[in-house]
Amino acid sequence: MNTDLADRLIDWFGQHGRDLPWRRSRDPYAIMVAEVMLQQTQVDRVVPRYHAFLTMWPDVAALAAAPTAEVIRFWSGLGYNRRAVNLQRAAQQVVAEHGGTFPRDVARLRQLPGVGAYTAGAIACFAFEADVGFVDTNIRRVLVRQWLGEITGGDAAAIQQLAERVVPAGRGWWWNQAIMELGALICTARAPACQRCPIAASCVEYAQRRAAPALAGLGAAPHRVVAERRSEPFAGSRRYYRGRVLDILRAAPPDTIVSYDILAQQLAATAAAAPTDAGWLQQLVADLARDGLLVADDRGARLP
Ligand code: ADE
Repeated sequence: MNTDLADRLIDWFGQHGRDLPWRRSRDPYAIMVAEVMLQQTQVDRVVPRYHAFLTMWPDVAALAAAPTAEVIRFWSGLGYNRRAVNLQRAAQQVVAEHGGTFPRDVARLRQLPGVGAYTAGAIACFAFEADVGFVDTNIRRVLVRQWLGEITGGDAAAIQQLAERVVPAGRGWWWNQAIMELGALICTARAPACQRCPIAASCVEYAQRRAAPALAGLGAAPHRVVAERRSEPFAGSRRYYRGRVLDILRAAPPDTIVSYDILAQQLAATAAAAPTDAGWLQQLVADLARDGLLVADDRGARLP
């Protein structure tokens, strides 16, 4: 690893990185909560919910013992409710299989429900300060631009290897926070601020763009967004209706079974174009039950 590059990036992070609450913690439970929340939800919206979650369930044993319905209720407004169920299952597994102490290595962290390569790497690095490489959207964009330029469509295995290879020894925590922060604040998808980038001098894509005058308008050529996933339209999607069903169950008093008729009525009231046939609703409810988000029988459904 080029120490000069690491120094420049880490120095920049020391000066410009945001003071985010999970960056002050080395508690693997708190880091897991933060990383799971941050998977689909923006930093500003996560901060208050992170504090509230840790106030409600301060450690892995507390979360493991909570009624699942309460965890799902808490998750209201964060979206992707399966994350709530998986987070609690992961806590239960840490208690049941590891005596309440988080495993420290990526391979065993990955065995936890809902913990994939990214989250396992983030916990190992941000809680245990392991020099590991992992990839999320921001990290990926920075790595591709800095080292590969426009050439790749995104070979995930190659990018994972690159992420591992470039971690400077002994400074994994700082490096990964810094590269993530650069992707969030400077090396953004659509309008990167290369003039303020601490590592532009060694950036392959920056050099390529300056060398491509045919594409350059007045300044540099526009950035191509490197194969980032675009989200699908939300209103009217299956995920949208799953969320509305859970909102209806959250609004019901604890342990109340909501009948399919009431569910159908309330769905029609909240979502104008909701499909109305009983088979569609039953299937939606069955899928939610399979994911552990509700319990259903022939009378109706309730939170688990
Ligand atoms: N998004 C995911 N993990 C993050 C972190 N540790 N800091 C800021 N944003 C993040």
